Order: sequence, then C-alpha cells, then structure tokens
Amino acid sequence: MLPEVAVPAGYAPADGLLRERVILITGAGGGVGSAAAMACARHGATPVLLGRNVRKLEKVYDAIEAGTGIKPAIYPMNLAGATWVEMGDVIATIEREFGRLDGVVHAAAHFTVFTPLSDVAPRDWMEGLQVNLTAAYTLTRLSLPLLEKSADASVVFLTDPSGQDNKAYRGAFGIAKYAVEGMVKSWASELEKKTQLRLNAYDPGPLRTFLRLKGYPGEDAQTVPLPESAMPGLLYLLGPDSAGRSGQRFSAAR
Ligand SMILES: NC(=O)c1ccc[n+]([C@@H]2O[C@H](COP(=O)([O-])OP(=O)(O)OC[C@H]3O[C@@H](n4cnc5c(N)ncnc54)[C@H](OP(=O)(O)O)[C@@H]3O)[C@@H](O)[C@H]2O)c1
Repeated sequence: MLPEVAVPAGYAPADGLLRERVILITGAGGGVGSAAAMACARHGATPVLLGRNVRKLEKVYDAIEAGTGIKPAIYPMNLAGATWVEMGDVIATIEREFGRLDGVVHAAAHFTVFTPLSDVAPRDWMEGLQVNLTAAYTLTRLSLPLLEKSADASVVFLTDPSGQDNKAYRGAFGIAKYAVEGMVKSWASELEKKTQLRLNAYDPGPLRTFLRLKGYPGEDAQTVPLPESAMPGLLYLLGPDSAGRSGQRFSAAR
C-alpha cells in the first residue's frame, strides 16, 4: 500500500504557483478534470485539455479563456480506443507546440455501475482497465523524457478508496484503482534518486460529479462538495510546495 498522508491543512496555493507551466489533464471535459484545468490556469499554467467530447472541451476552453485570459490547448481523444502511437502523438504535439511539459493529471475515468466481478460486462472490463489504468500508464511513460527536462515536474493519479482497499462490487473500476496505486508505488521508487519527477496518487474525497451520481444515485447531490473544493490539494501536488514528496497517497484536507 502507498503511505497515506493528508494535504497540509489550510494549504492555500500562492498566486502564480504554476506560472508558465504546461500541464496535461485527461478527462478535462467535466468533473474533477475540468475543475483541475481551471485551477491550473488560475495559477498561471497552460492546461492541455484531453477528453473524448470536443463540445465539452470547447466549453471548458471558453470558460478558462474568459476567466483567466489563458488559452488552453485541446486534444480530443477517446482513451478507450487510443493506441500507444496515438498517445505518443499527444506528447509529441505538446513538445512541438510548447517545448515543455511540467505535469500530468490523470482524471479521465471510466465507470458504469457497481457490480460483482462475475457480472462485469466484457466491454466494461476492457474499457475500465484501458482508460483507468493502461492509458494512465502509457501517457505517463511517454511523457517521461519531457517531464524529466522540467525542473519541478509532477504526475498526479486521481484515486479513491478502492485504490487502498478494493472492497466487493467495485468491478473493473476498483481493480484499476488498486493497480494504479500499486503502479505509483513501484514507479516512484524506481525513479527516486534518478529524477526530480514525482508521482503521487490523490484521493479528493466524494465530489459532486457525474461519476459520483452514477455510483450513488440515491444520494442528495447538494450535500456532496463541488470538485473545486479539492483543488488546493491538487495544486499542492502539482506545484513546488510538494517538491521531494513522491510515491505517496494524498487525501484532500477538509
Ligand atoms: N467524484 C468523486 O466523488 C471522486 C471521488 C474520489 C476520486 N475520484 C476520482 O476522480 C477522477 C475523476 O472522476 P470524476 O468524478 O471527475 O468523473 P467524471 O465526472 O465521470 O469525469 C470523468 C471524465 O473522464 C472522461 N472520460 C471518460 N471516459 C473517457 C475516455 N474513454 N476517453 C477520454 N476521456 C474519458 C469523461 O468524459 P465524458 O464527459 O465524455 O464522459 C469525463 O470528462 C476519477 O479517477 C475518480 O475515481 C472522484
């Protein structure tokens, strides 16, 4: 298991925390991903918005440009079917357009329904592992040469309680989260001492997103915090205040 730590209580990211940085955000069309993109831009970074729905990405683009003046990049991609080569093209495009990459936020998530493993639909299994695990691995791996050129690069994998203790009925989603945390543990330790790059998992706690609604349809959504409430923790992990901290599982401070 990854060592579990909380984001420092009351952490308040400084203005300009991520100034001039370029940060790739998957699942940027909604939920945690779109909140992350806005938070990064508000703190000076240029977000690269990767998602499968161009209209949703364009809405996020417009909101960021109107709110911050920063012009993000949009990279439409369905991670469920994306190949190694296509994901390599994402990174090559970022290198060509920006010449740098300082962070990656893995917020894309494939989730359908809580179900016993014996009943997971074959396609749900394939897409769950592909989007939640394999794409996160592949994009990170292909980003490494560019990230290692950055003086302070950070990769954040969104996780949830399944990543630590994968209880019954979590389906392919839970298996993928458990594997992601295992991947962060071994990869961070392999990279330790070789590079400044840090890899961490971040559990933002329950947030009012489409995924949460699918998993907990009977819940009163108004009682669940908005994704923006988890952004200080994410910014902490992306910025220099978390320098030297890698291979850990952070939970949002509330
Ligand atoms: N919400 C919570 O309560 C909570 C709690 C703990 C951890 N987390 C973690 O936070 C992360 C984000 O969750 P969320 O709540 O923001 O989920 P969400 O609202 O469902 O958003 C997921 C995003 O991923 C995108 N996506 C899904 N399949 C994709 C694919 N095949 N290719 C590219 N993009 C794809 C979605 O695009 P579309 O809009 O096109 O579907 C959406 O933008 C997940 O790792 C989740 O486990 C969430």
